[in-house]
Amino acid sequence: MEPREMILVLGANGQIGTELVTALRAKYSSDQVIASDIRPAIGSQDGPFEILDIMDAVAVENSLKKHQITQIYHLAAILSATGEKNPRMAWQVNMDGLLNILEASVKLSVKKVFWPSSIAVFGKHSKKRLTPQYAITDPDTIYGISKLAGERWCNYYYRTRGLDVRSLRYPGLISYVGKPGGGTTDYAVEIFYEALQNGTYTCFLKEDQRLPMMYMPDAIKATIQLMDADADKLRIRSSYNVSSLSFSPAELAKKIQGHLPKLSVDYAPDFRQQIAETWPDSIDDNYARIDWDWNPDYDLSTMVIDMLENIGKKG
Ligand code: NAD
Ligand code: SER
Repeated sequence: MEPREMILVLGANGQIGTELVTALRAKYSSDQVIASDIRPAIGSQDGPFEILDIMDAVAVENSLKKHQITQIYHLAAILSATGEKNPRMAWQVNMDGLLNILEASVKLSVKKVFWPSSIAVFGKHSKKRLTPQYAITDPDTIYGISKLAGERWCNYYYRTRGLDVRSLRYPGLISYVGKPGGGTTDYAVEIFYEALQNGTYTCFLKEDQRLPMMYMPDAIKATIQLMDADADKLRIRSSYNVSSLSFSPAELAKKIQGHLPKLSVDYAPDFRQQIAETWPDSIDDNYARIDWDWNPDYDLSTMVIDMLENIGKKG
């Protein structure tokens, strides 16, 4: 008989983890999904939580043994904007942390590992529009460099150790449950809160800085769909391009103004503008569509309506 799935989510208190844990607990059961983070649990808990630092390899191994973990979702990381403020720390957390998880997974025979990469692996010389899976990857940020190296390590562990590791290059993610954790795309969440609370927003990117984005329900769907896919259908063991939305701050502001006409937005680009300029406008995700039937549900209009409704309900 197959062992009962036991799932460990690392970095579960973050923007993605808060929603992924809920989705996994709905798919499996609450006691099968162990949420963990270096910070204490936030909000109400509907299942097991433990403090776990991914830099502590012994603690990671002990947790895998204790819970007889069969699947890991490794979300703990330092994102692009925060990473530029402390590059050595970002490299250590993103790289040594990932290696601790890959090594422990092989040692303790974890069946599947999910680890997210990012559009940040691309750079100034990548094709800007509909960036293909196998584009030039010349990232400028330490975050992008760590994600690119991480992709190669994932592929290496798959190839040389047989570890079933799966990955997506998420675009900027938009959500109303968890707040974003220090990225270049965070403006696309902040603007909704400011629009509803103050009717005004100062954006840290230029008004025409188009970037690839995705609504969180689609990101969760893609993650679970990839983890459920037949292993022999997956041609990519570094990280899959996935795509959904592509818009600029001015286009997003105009859509929100369709519902909140009094919203005024101005622009004061900071260091994050230089990061955004090196990233693609939009992504070609053909491999994901063919290999595991990827198809997003939300467009810009439906995402904006859902965000406003749900942030509005929070009061
Ligand atoms: P986040 O910053 O919101 O959350 C990361 C979590 O990791 C935080 O709760 C933090 O406390 C935890 N953490 C940090 N250091 C840790 C450590 N040493 N041990 C254990 N936990 C630690 O990030 P997120 O937006 O939820 O992103 C999750 C993953 O998805 C990251 O790998 C990120 O690079 C990737 N990603 C996110 C986006 C996005 O737009 N949110 C886009 C592309 C890729
Ligand atoms: N949203 C992420 C960031 O801006 C992209 O990986 O860092």
